[in-house]
Amino acid sequence: MKECVSVKCLETLSFQGILERETVAEGMVFDAQAVSDAVAEGIAKIQDASSLEELKAIKTQYAGAESAMTKASKAIGSLPKDQKKEAGQLLGKLRADFGRAFGPREKELKAAEEAAALAAETVDMTLPVNRKPLGARHPLAKLMEDVEDFFIAMGWQISAGPEVESEWYNFDALNFGPDHPARQMQDTFYVKGNQAKDAAGFVGSNMVVRTQTSSDQVRALITRGVPLYIASPGRVFRTDELDATHTPVFHQCEALAVDKGLTMADLKGVLDKLAVAMFGPEAKTRLRPSYFPFTEPSAELDLWFPDKKGGPGWLEWGGCGMVNPNVLKSAGLDPNEYTGFAFGVGMERTLLLRSDINDMHDLVEGDVRFAEQFVMGE
Ligand code: DAH
Repeated sequence: MKECVSVKCLETLSFQGILERETVAEGMVFDAQAVSDAVAEGIAKIQDASSLEELKAIKTQYAGAESAMTKASKAIGSLPKDQKKEAGQLLGKLRADFGRAFGPREKELKAAEEAAALAAETVDMTLPVNRKPLGARHPLAKLMEDVEDFFIAMGWQISAGPEVESEWYNFDALNFGPDHPARQMQDTFYVKGNQAKDAAGFVGSNMVVRTQTSSDQVRALITRGVPLYIASPGRVFRTDELDATHTPVFHQCEALAVDKGLTMADLKGVLDKLAVAMFGPEAKTRLRPSYFPFTEPSAELDLWFPDKKGGPGWLEWGGCGMVNPNVLKSAGLDPNEYTGFAFGVGMERTLLLRSDINDMHDLVEGDVRFAEQFVMGE
């Protein structure tokens, strides 16, 4: 058959097709009642259809190749001549009825589906857009506020000394001798001044960018008087290179209480309360003897809290002590009348201990994606 391409062959094929069609038609009877019922059923289903997809299936079932209507129209050929016309008219009417039911319902469903799609995809053009992403507060700024809140809740005042500070407040008033190593150029940023060069060729101004928030102690004592209870959070500066654990600019919070009859027990009480506020109900502090020029006795402040990286244990958190009488004298106070305690903690250190931050670079680079991680719980 494959090679059979002659006109004769094609004729034979089409003749066979006719024969086949007639054979199919022969097996059918034209049943007017049955085809009318089938079409009526189809029309009823069209009215009930609730989607275009359903409608399409109804069309296939009642008007498609296998439908009663199509089969009936094929069967007309086998009817006696006198019945053909009537049967043809009936089928024409049925086909038209079906079409009249189908067309409008299809339109309705199409419109309904389009409306639903539009409603689902509606964009409200009048809604305000986020032109400026809000960003996130730096975790350090948030921590500083938490610390301030702690002191305010105890009735203490928040003080803020200047970042550019006289050497006197930063060192001399705090009992640092003129040769104290912290004054060396490698620790302290000196502010350039107009004075003549000194013997070492340095042009001094007696001004520094403060190396510690302790610089606010005598300033606050002089400006605010006693009794004094202040926390002084802020930025400090040292000539350190930026690496994973150091930055030349960092933050501390100084606390100073000067009153009559204050003892180390008061200091320890405040420290433990601060530890709990920052590190949870089980946190506690421990003091280890140390030396600072502006406190006597002086202690290293250690912190214990259960969530410490690598398991519960002690960590160095800051320094503290009873205010050195020489500091009180710098502020014009009589050390026999007043006593005081002071402590200072590093804010970056507090944040690193509290959160899972391992690198100081993250804190200073200002990448909002870093800050955003801390927004929850604000
Ligand atoms: N200012 C000290 C520092 O930067 C910390 C400090 C130690 C503050 C002892 C204090 C204190 O008030 O009593 O290392």
